[in-house]
Amino acid sequence: MATSIITIDGPAGAGKTTVSKLLSQKLGIIYVDTGAIYRGVAFEIKNQNIEWENDSTLEIFLEGLDLNFIKKNGSLLLISSGRDISKFIRTPEISMLASSSSARPQVRAELLDIQRKIAKTEDAVFEGRDMGTVVFPEAEYKFYLFADLAVRAKRRYDEMPNKVKNINKVEQEMQTRDNNDSQRETAPLKPATDAIKIDSTFLTIEQVVEKMLRIIEKA
Ligand code: DC
Repeated sequence: MATSIITIDGPAGAGKTTVSKLLSQKLGIIYVDTGAIYRGVAFEIKNQNIEWENDSTLEIFLEGLDLNFIKKNGSLLLISSGRDISKFIRTPEISMLASSSSARPQVRAELLDIQRKIAKTEDAVFEGRDMGTVVFPEAEYKFYLFADLAVRAKRRYDEMPNKVKNINKVEQEMQTRDNNDSQRETAPLKPATDAIKIDSTFLTIEQVVEKMLRIIEKA
């Protein structure tokens, strides 16, 4: 494994992505958004109209899946069968489908290698749900970032360019996703026992990153 692996887990809207990007920039290492690969699976499920709840259909689909990250100008692009799908995976429908299909153990097993392969050669900040618990239990630094649901929903709502949904709907969808992600049997969202928990409810992104850097630099 590369010498420096930092994991950041937590629920949607806690600030993981922005924090992970900024932290990786400050440390001069790459940032890996593992949610993107679960979104990539969901994108292909939708695209190929796969009945993913059926075991044998899911297994055949996963055998044919050719999903990978490639590094370009210091960041990672999500490639499916040679095509960059990075810009198609951020819709609310894909968010929900990624959350439900990622509960299938076969999906999780299939994606383990893609994540661990990167860590063999790169120092990186890995963002996800099970980074500290399952994928990189030996990581050097593990953080669990969380915040009150209402605050997370407000942040997501503020980021939406066209405000097609009201804030209550955003909060409801977030709650559903939290429940899916934390109540599944395989690799549920939870802090690793040795993770450092940070509540971002009343903190800015910069304050969270400062806190993390202080911990990393002190070690
Ligand atoms: O981080 P995100 O919102 O882009 O992730 C989308 C979904 O993918 C999330 O609801 C659950 C799943 N996911 C996961 O199960 N494990 C990860 N390490 C990352 C994401």
